[in-house]
Amino acid sequence: MNQAAETVRLFFALWPASDLQARLAAWAKQAAGRGRAMRRENLHLTLAFLGDTDATLVPQLIALAAGVRFDAIRLALDRVGYWKHNRIIWCGAGEEPPALVELVEGLRARLDAAGIRYDPKPFVSHVTLVRDASGLPATPAWVPLVWEARDFALVSSTRIEGRVSYQVAQRFPATAG
Ligand code: 2AM
Repeated sequence: MNQAAETVRLFFALWPASDLQARLAAWAKQAAGRGRAMRRENLHLTLAFLGDTDATLVPQLIALAAGVRFDAIRLALDRVGYWKHNRIIWCGAGEEPPALVELVEGLRARLDAAGIRYDPKPFVSHVTLVRDASGLPATPAWVPLVWEARDFALVSSTRIEGRVSYQVAQRFPATAG
């Protein structure tokens, strides 16, 4: 009998430094109300979500991502929003910087070329701050932050007793900037 292949739940993301994570988490905690504020160490911006992936593909994914050329990204987190369909409060950039679009397109093109599947929904940059939220609260006011991202990461996700935890498996530096 064939043994089921081992899978890992993976995604590519921009992973903020811990001081930025702390500032985002502090706002999320105040905004959470009856929702669930994301834990500080889990805050990120997803570039491509692969989901359950054959673990033997990891070296290929690392090689593929290392070949993506992109400039450092200056992302103005200048807005917060609420999406009713998935009940999240998020923050993001009013205008996506070209370097970010380039990175996402470059990465997704390489995944396509390698025949590796990912969630094909169009990219809308956002950092999820609160889950199971009923709306965007009037307070606290959002104070715009600037995120200087000089790398992106391959991240694995595990769930232990209902608690999601993310591990950065590998980081990939910007080519320039
Ligand atoms: P979200 O925060 O908007 O829910 C890990 O689950 C990360 O991958 C989250 O940032 C999540 O986005 C994102 N993601 C994108 N597509 C997903 C999908 N189909 N299923 C689960 N997470 C997805």
